[in-house]
Amino acid sequence: MIFSVTAKRLISYDSSSSDGKLWKQFDAFIRGLLAFPLYIPGTAFYQCMQGRKEVMKILRKLFDERKKAPSRREKVDFIDLLIDTIKEDKLAMSDNFALNLIFLLLFAGFETTSSGITAAIKFLTDNPKALQELTVIHESLRLANIAPLLFKKSKEDVHIKAYTIPKGSKVMVCPSIVHLNPTIYEDPNVFNPWRWKEIAEPLGGASKDFMAFGGGLRLCVGAEFAKMQMAIFLHSLVTKYRWKAVKGGTMVLSPGLRFPDGFHIQIVHKY
Ligand code: HEM
Repeated sequence: MIFSVTAKRLISYDSSSSDGKLWKQFDAFIRGLLAFPLYIPGTAFYQCMQGRKEVMKILRKLFDERKKAPSRREKVDFIDLLIDTIKEDKLAMSDNFALNLIFLLLFAGFETTSSGITAAIKFLTDNPKALQELTVIHESLRLANIAPLLFKKSKEDVHIKAYTIPKGSKVMVCPSIVHLNPTIYEDPNVFNPWRWKEIAEPLGGASKDFMAFGGGLRLCVGAEFAKMQMAIFLHSLVTKYRWKAVKGGTMVLSPGLRFPDGFHIQIVHKY
Protein backbone atom coordinates (compact mmCIF):
# COMPACT_ATOMS: atom_id res chain seq x y z
CA MET A 1 0.00 0.00 0.00
CA ILE A 2 2.77 2.44 0.96
CA PHE A 3 4.68 1.61 -2.24
CA SER A 4 1.56 2.32 -4.31
CA VAL A 5 0.89 5.66 -2.59
CA THR A 6 4.48 6.91 -2.92
CA ALA A 7 5.09 5.53 -6.41
CA LYS A 8 1.84 7.10 -7.62
CA ARG A 9 3.10 10.54 -6.61
CA LEU A 10 6.57 9.97 -8.00
CA ILE A 11 5.97 8.13 -11.28
CA SER A 12 2.16 7.81 -11.63
CA TYR A 13 2.45 4.12 -10.83
CA ASP A 14 -0.93 2.44 -10.99
CA SER A 15 -0.96 -0.51 -8.62
CA SER A 16 -4.31 -1.84 -9.88
CA SER A 17 -3.11 -2.25 -13.47
CA SER A 18 0.49 -3.23 -12.65
CA ASP A 19 1.81 -6.79 -12.66
CA GLY A 20 3.71 -6.13 -9.39
CA LYS A 21 7.08 -6.48 -11.16
CA LEU A 22 8.43 -3.13 -10.01
CA TRP A 23 7.54 -3.80 -6.40
CA LYS A 24 9.03 -7.32 -6.53
CA GLN A 25 12.31 -6.04 -7.97
CA PHE A 26 12.46 -3.42 -5.23
CA ASP A 27 11.88 -6.08 -2.62
CA ALA A 28 14.79 -8.14 -4.02
CA PHE A 29 16.97 -5.02 -3.94
CA ILE A 30 16.09 -4.23 -0.32
CA ARG A 31 16.59 -7.80 0.93
CA GLY A 32 20.20 -7.87 -0.18
CA LEU A 33 21.04 -4.25 0.49
CA LEU A 34 23.30 -4.88 3.47
CA ALA A 35 24.27 -8.43 2.51
CA PHE A 36 27.82 -9.69 2.17
CA PRO A 37 28.93 -8.44 -1.28
CA LEU A 38 29.36 -11.80 -2.98
CA TYR A 39 28.33 -11.33 -6.60
CA ILE A 40 27.46 -14.86 -7.69
CA PRO A 41 24.01 -16.16 -8.74
CA GLY A 42 21.94 -17.30 -5.78
CA THR A 43 23.35 -14.88 -3.18
CA ALA A 44 21.24 -12.11 -1.65
CA PHE A 45 23.71 -9.54 -2.94
CA TYR A 46 23.41 -10.87 -6.52
CA GLN A 47 19.61 -10.69 -6.34
CA CYS A 48 19.89 -7.19 -4.91
CA MET A 49 22.03 -6.04 -7.86
CA GLN A 50 19.71 -7.76 -10.35
CA GLY A 51 16.72 -6.11 -8.66
CA ARG A 52 18.32 -2.69 -8.99
CA LYS A 53 19.22 -3.35 -12.63
CA GLU A 54 15.61 -4.31 -13.44
CA VAL A 55 14.11 -1.33 -11.60
CA MET A 56 16.53 1.04 -13.37
CA LYS A 57 15.54 -0.51 -16.72
CA ILE A 58 11.83 0.17 -16.03
CA LEU A 59 12.55 3.70 -14.78
CA ARG A 60 14.83 4.53 -17.72
CA LYS A 61 12.12 3.46 -20.22
CA LEU A 62 9.54 5.60 -18.44
CA PHE A 63 11.94 8.55 -18.17
CA ASP A 64 12.87 8.41 -21.88
CA GLU A 65 9.22 8.17 -22.95
CA ARG A 66 8.28 11.18 -20.84
CA LYS A 67 11.28 13.17 -22.00
CA LYS A 68 10.34 12.67 -25.66
CA ALA A 69 6.69 13.49 -25.08
CA PRO A 70 5.56 17.12 -25.41
CA SER A 71 5.50 18.94 -22.08
CA ARG A 72 2.21 18.35 -20.25
CA ARG A 73 0.53 21.52 -19.10
CA GLU A 74 -0.65 19.90 -15.92
CA LYS A 75 2.27 18.39 -14.03
CA VAL A 76 1.02 15.15 -12.60
CA ASP A 77 3.98 13.61 -10.88
CA PHE A 78 7.58 14.06 -9.74
CA ILE A 79 9.10 12.81 -13.04
CA ASP A 80 7.22 15.53 -14.96
CA LEU A 81 8.53 18.21 -12.63
CA LEU A 82 12.06 16.84 -12.74
CA ILE A 83 12.15 16.66 -16.56
CA ASP A 84 10.75 20.17 -16.87
CA THR A 85 13.33 21.56 -14.48
CA ILE A 86 16.12 19.82 -16.38
CA LYS A 87 14.78 21.02 -19.76
CA GLU A 88 14.55 24.59 -18.52
CA ASP A 89 18.20 24.31 -17.51
CA LYS A 90 17.35 25.22 -13.95
CA LEU A 91 19.17 22.17 -12.69
CA ALA A 92 22.54 20.95 -13.97
CA MET A 93 21.61 17.29 -13.63
CA SER A 94 22.44 14.40 -15.94
CA ASP A 95 19.72 11.91 -16.88
CA ASN A 96 21.58 9.29 -14.92
CA PHE A 97 21.61 11.41 -11.79
CA ALA A 98 17.88 12.11 -12.22
CA LEU A 99 17.15 8.39 -12.56
CA ASN A 100 19.15 7.62 -9.43
CA LEU A 101 17.22 10.32 -7.59
CA ILE A 102 13.88 8.73 -8.56
CA PHE A 103 15.23 5.33 -7.53
CA LEU A 104 16.36 6.73 -4.16
CA LEU A 105 13.02 8.40 -3.47
CA LEU A 106 11.07 5.26 -4.39
CA PHE A 107 13.28 3.21 -2.08
CA ALA A 108 13.38 5.72 0.79
CA GLY A 109 9.64 6.37 0.63
CA PHE A 110 8.64 2.72 0.68
CA GLU A 111 10.76 0.44 2.83
CA THR A 112 10.99 2.87 5.75
CA THR A 113 7.39 3.92 6.36
CA SER A 114 5.95 0.45 5.68
CA SER A 115 8.30 -1.14 8.25
CA GLY A 116 7.51 1.69 10.67
CA ILE A 117 3.75 1.13 10.35
CA THR A 118 4.10 -2.65 10.72
CA ALA A 119 6.24 -2.17 13.84
CA ALA A 120 3.68 0.27 15.31
CA ILE A 121 0.79 -2.18 14.73
CA LYS A 122 2.83 -5.00 16.23
CA PHE A 123 3.64 -2.94 19.36
CA LEU A 124 0.04 -1.70 19.64
CA THR A 125 -1.32 -5.24 19.34
CA ASP A 126 0.91 -6.32 22.22
CA ASN A 127 0.17 -3.18 24.28
CA PRO A 128 -3.56 -2.40 24.17
CA LYS A 129 -3.10 0.30 26.86
CA ALA A 130 -1.05 2.30 24.41
CA LEU A 131 -4.02 2.35 22.05
CA GLN A 132 -5.80 4.71 24.41
CA GLU A 133 -3.14 7.35 23.92
CA LEU A 134 -1.69 7.21 20.50
CA THR A 135 1.69 8.87 20.94
CA VAL A 136 3.51 5.87 19.56
CA ILE A 137 5.39 6.88 16.54
CA HIS A 138 8.66 8.00 18.09
CA GLU A 139 8.69 5.03 20.46
CA SER A 140 8.09 2.57 17.58
CA LEU A 141 10.90 4.14 15.57
CA ARG A 142 13.26 4.19 18.59
CA LEU A 143 12.78 0.45 19.13
CA ALA A 144 12.54 -0.54 15.47
CA ASN A 145 15.78 1.14 14.33
CA ILE A 146 14.66 0.98 10.72
CA ALA A 147 17.86 2.62 9.46
CA PRO A 148 20.38 0.45 11.32
CA LEU A 149 23.50 2.13 9.97
CA LEU A 150 24.43 5.55 8.66
CA PHE A 151 27.66 6.24 6.81
CA LYS A 152 29.56 9.49 7.16
CA LYS A 153 32.97 10.80 6.11
CA SER A 154 34.91 13.21 8.31
CA LYS A 155 35.79 16.37 6.40
CA GLU A 156 38.37 17.39 9.01
CA ASP A 157 40.06 15.96 12.10
CA VAL A 158 37.33 15.50 14.68
CA HIS A 159 38.26 15.43 18.38
CA ILE A 160 35.88 13.60 20.69
CA LYS A 161 36.96 13.15 24.29
CA ALA A 162 40.38 11.45 24.13
CA TYR A 163 39.94 10.33 20.51
CA THR A 164 40.69 11.88 17.17
CA ILE A 165 38.85 10.77 14.04
CA PRO A 166 41.30 11.67 11.27
CA LYS A 167 40.15 13.69 8.29
CA GLY A 168 38.88 11.46 5.48
CA SER A 169 37.83 8.56 7.76
CA LYS A 170 34.68 6.64 6.93
CA VAL A 171 32.48 6.50 10.01
CA MET A 172 29.62 4.08 10.55
CA VAL A 173 26.99 5.46 12.92
CA CYS A 174 24.78 2.91 14.65
CA PRO A 175 21.64 4.66 16.00
CA SER A 176 20.47 1.65 18.03
CA ILE A 177 23.44 2.12 20.40
CA VAL A 178 21.89 5.45 21.40
CA HIS A 179 18.26 4.32 21.19
CA LEU A 180 18.84 1.28 23.41
CA ASN A 181 21.18 3.01 25.88
CA PRO A 182 19.78 2.49 29.42
CA THR A 183 21.36 5.72 30.68
CA ILE A 184 19.23 7.66 28.17
CA TYR A 185 16.06 5.52 28.04
CA GLU A 186 14.97 3.68 31.18
CA ASP A 187 14.26 -0.01 30.40
CA PRO A 188 15.26 0.63 26.80
CA ASN A 189 13.85 -2.63 25.41
CA VAL A 190 10.35 -1.93 26.75
CA PHE A 191 7.78 -0.33 24.44
CA ASN A 192 6.72 2.63 26.55
CA PRO A 193 5.24 5.44 24.45
CA TRP A 194 4.45 7.41 27.63
CA ARG A 195 8.16 8.12 28.11
CA TRP A 196 7.79 10.69 25.31
CA LYS A 197 5.56 12.78 27.56
CA GLU A 198 8.67 13.61 29.57
CA ILE A 199 11.00 14.08 26.59
CA ALA A 200 10.97 17.34 24.68
CA GLU A 201 10.21 16.91 20.95
CA PRO A 202 13.66 16.64 19.32
CA LEU A 203 14.42 20.02 17.77
CA GLY A 204 14.16 19.75 13.97
CA GLY A 205 13.25 16.07 14.30
CA ALA A 206 16.59 14.84 15.64
CA SER A 207 18.85 15.10 18.68
CA LYS A 208 21.91 13.29 19.95
CA ASP A 209 19.53 10.97 21.84
CA PHE A 210 17.08 10.37 18.96
CA MET A 211 18.34 9.78 15.44
CA ALA A 212 15.77 7.50 13.77
CA PHE A 213 15.79 10.02 10.90
CA GLY A 214 19.54 10.68 11.06
CA GLY A 215 20.53 14.24 11.85
CA GLY A 216 22.44 17.32 10.81
CA LEU A 217 22.76 18.24 7.15
CA ARG A 218 21.64 14.84 5.90
CA LEU A 219 18.55 14.62 8.09
CA CYS A 220 15.89 12.52 6.36
CA VAL A 221 14.04 14.76 3.89
CA GLY A 222 10.97 12.54 4.24
CA ALA A 223 10.77 12.61 8.06
CA GLU A 224 7.68 14.80 8.38
CA PHE A 225 5.99 13.12 5.39
CA ALA A 226 6.69 9.68 6.90
CA LYS A 227 5.34 10.67 10.32
CA MET A 228 2.23 12.16 8.71
CA GLN A 229 1.67 9.03 6.59
CA MET A 230 2.05 6.80 9.65
CA ALA A 231 -0.22 9.03 11.74
CA ILE A 232 -2.98 9.07 9.08
CA PHE A 233 -2.74 5.30 8.69
CA LEU A 234 -2.88 4.68 12.45
CA HIS A 235 -5.68 7.21 12.92
CA SER A 236 -7.88 5.46 10.33
CA LEU A 237 -6.98 2.05 11.70
CA VAL A 238 -7.80 2.76 15.35
CA THR A 239 -10.87 4.93 14.81
CA LYS A 240 -12.61 2.73 12.24
CA TYR A 241 -11.34 -0.78 12.82
CA ARG A 242 -10.42 -3.42 15.35
CA TRP A 243 -7.82 -6.00 14.60
CA LYS A 244 -6.28 -9.12 16.01
CA ALA A 245 -2.97 -10.79 15.27
CA VAL A 246 -3.31 -13.93 13.16
CA LYS A 247 0.19 -15.03 12.34
CA GLY A 248 3.83 -13.90 12.25
CA GLY A 249 5.00 -10.73 13.94
CA THR A 250 8.50 -11.87 14.80
CA MET A 251 10.78 -8.87 14.42
CA VAL A 252 14.44 -9.30 13.58
CA LEU A 253 17.18 -6.79 12.91
CA SER A 254 19.36 -8.29 10.20
CA PRO A 255 20.71 -5.61 10.26
CA GLY A 256 17.66 -3.65 9.02
CA LEU A 257 14.22 -4.32 10.49
CA ARG A 258 12.51 -7.33 8.92
CA PHE A 259 9.41 -9.39 9.59
CA PRO A 260 10.52 -12.83 8.29
CA ASP A 261 6.99 -14.31 8.45
CA GLY A 262 5.26 -10.98 7.86
CA PHE A 263 2.71 -9.79 10.37
CA HIS A 264 -0.79 -10.92 9.46
CA ILE A 265 -3.73 -9.23 11.12
CA GLN A 266 -7.45 -9.72 10.75
CA ILE A 267 -9.29 -6.43 10.45
CA VAL A 268 -12.97 -5.84 11.17
CA HIS A 269 -15.01 -2.67 10.88
CA LYS A 270 -15.97 -1.26 14.29
CA TYR A 271 -19.57 -0.57 13.33
C1 HEM B 1 9.88 5.79 9.06
C2 HEM B 1 10.31 6.32 7.96
C3 HEM B 1 11.74 6.77 7.66
C4 HEM B 1 12.90 6.59 8.37
C5 HEM B 1 13.09 5.86 9.70
C6 HEM B 1 13.98 7.24 7.60
C7 HEM B 1 15.31 7.32 8.00
C8 HEM B 1 16.29 8.05 7.36
C9 HEM B 1 17.64 8.27 7.86
C10 HEM B 1 18.20 7.71 9.15
C11 HEM B 1 18.30 9.05 6.96
C12 HEM B 1 19.72 9.61 7.07
C13 HEM B 1 20.73 8.77 6.32
C14 HEM B 1 22.15 9.25 6.57
O1 HEM B 1 22.39 10.15 7.37
O2 HEM B 1 23.03 8.67 5.94
C15 HEM B 1 17.38 9.31 5.86
C16 HEM B 1 17.70 10.05 4.74
C17 HEM B 1 16.84 10.24 3.68
N1 HEM B 1 15.51 9.89 3.63
FE1 HEM B 1 14.46 8.92 5.06
N2 HEM B 1 13.45 7.79 6.45
C18 HEM B 1 12.08 7.53 6.44
C19 HEM B 1 11.16 7.91 5.46
C20 HEM B 1 11.50 8.56 4.29
C21 HEM B 1 10.55 8.94 3.24
C22 HEM B 1 9.04 8.66 3.31
C23 HEM B 1 11.28 9.55 2.24
C24 HEM B 1 10.85 10.12 0.91
C25 HEM B 1 9.64 10.16 0.45
C26 HEM B 1 12.68 9.58 2.67
C27 HEM B 1 13.72 10.13 1.93
C28 HEM B 1 15.01 10.25 2.39
C29 HEM B 1 16.09 10.85 1.60
C30 HEM B 1 15.98 11.37 0.16
C31 HEM B 1 17.23 10.87 2.42
C32 HEM B 1 18.61 11.41 2.06
C33 HEM B 1 18.75 12.83 2.59
C34 HEM B 1 20.12 13.42 2.29
O3 HEM B 1 21.09 12.67 2.15
O4 HEM B 1 20.22 14.65 2.24
N3 HEM B 1 12.77 8.98 3.91
N4 HEM B 1 16.15 8.70 6.13
